[in-house]
Amino acid sequence: MTEQSFSERLLAWYRGNKRDLPWRHDVTPYRVWISEIMLQQTRVEAVKTYFLRFLSALPTVYDLAAVPDEVLMKLWQGLGYYSRARNLKKAAMEIVSRYGGMLPNTAEELQTLPGIGRYTSSAIVSIAYGKRAAAVDGNVLRVYARVFGDARDIAQEQTKRAFEAEILRLMPEESGTYENGQNDCGDFTQGLIELGATVCVPNGTPLCEACPMAEICTARREGSVDALPYKTKKAARRIEERTVLLLTDGAHLGLVRRPENGLLAGLYEPMNLCGAYDEDAIRKALRDFGIREDAIGAIVPVGQAKHIFTHIEWHMTGYRVELSDLLHPAEIVFPSLREVEASYAIPSAYRFYMREFSAYAAEKH
Ligand code: ADE
Repeated sequence: MTEQSFSERLLAWYRGNKRDLPWRHDVTPYRVWISEIMLQQTRVEAVKTYFLRFLSALPTVYDLAAVPDEVLMKLWQGLGYYSRARNLKKAAMEIVSRYGGMLPNTAEELQTLPGIGRYTSSAIVSIAYGKRAAAVDGNVLRVYARVFGDARDIAQEQTKRAFEAEILRLMPEESGTYENGQNDCGDFTQGLIELGATVCVPNGTPLCEACPMAEICTARREGSVDALPYKTKKAARRIEERTVLLLTDGAHLGLVRRPENGLLAGLYEPMNLCGAYDEDAIRKALRDFGIREDAIGAIVPVGQAKHIFTHIEWHMTGYRVELSDLLHPAEIVFPSLREVEASYAIPSAYRFYMREFSAYAAEKH
């Protein structure tokens, strides 16, 4: 197979079969950018209406740079991953202040903007500026792995870089931009994405009869379509049951310091036991910790919360432990609510319980 035939097949197929999507009309760098950000974690069908509404509310990068946060959040509501929207606005402000309102036309410059990484910068320069740059997302990795029978692990950054380099080699020469008609590089980029999204699909049976690559596809010839792309699974997150204890006399909160190494190293936190404890087990644990039994009053459940770290999930059950005095072992400090807020960076894993404690302390006050 020649390299030429890959891109020729792709371009002919894309031009004859592409879906009619709003960002494929009136192509501008701004519209391409907004659409690519929205499409990162949201399905095409859902993005369509959000995209049109967003563009009519904020038709230019100047409008986006100046939009009040509440208006922006409303326009984004339902799309999720709100940091995408906040980054869009931050990047728009930089485009106005540093680039005179024009999106930069190199991948390197684009990648200095918030929220724009390798994929998005390449999508923008190829689709909007007609330049050679390989935009490799999950769809594209799948198409490449199957057509070329490449079984390297796509979970590895190294594999992604290698596929990216190969795809760049297959890409046509620069010809045209959004402004003057036929854009081979942009159509190559969208063609690969489109093929992965509509024909060379991930779950279930790909529609090989409708695929422009059928005759040259290694996976099809070798019967390895289901096995490709190859991807090692990320280790599952470990789930830890935790019992969170809000030790308090009504005004102060007991905090202990985490070890110097590991998760949340050196930060103060409410007392936190590994495992699910009932009231008796809590009383015993507190005694073992050196808290006088007769100082322990009511133990009141305050609810469950979950926090997800990269490799661990905490499933927490919290209790307020009412103490009659604060004669306590030295490992526990008892700042007031005001001191906690001013001087302690309590990990956000405890947000739910910190709110709980604030509400309780305010009521007691
Ligand atoms: N997913 C990511 N980019 C896309 C595009 N330009 N068209 C359709 N789906 C996409």
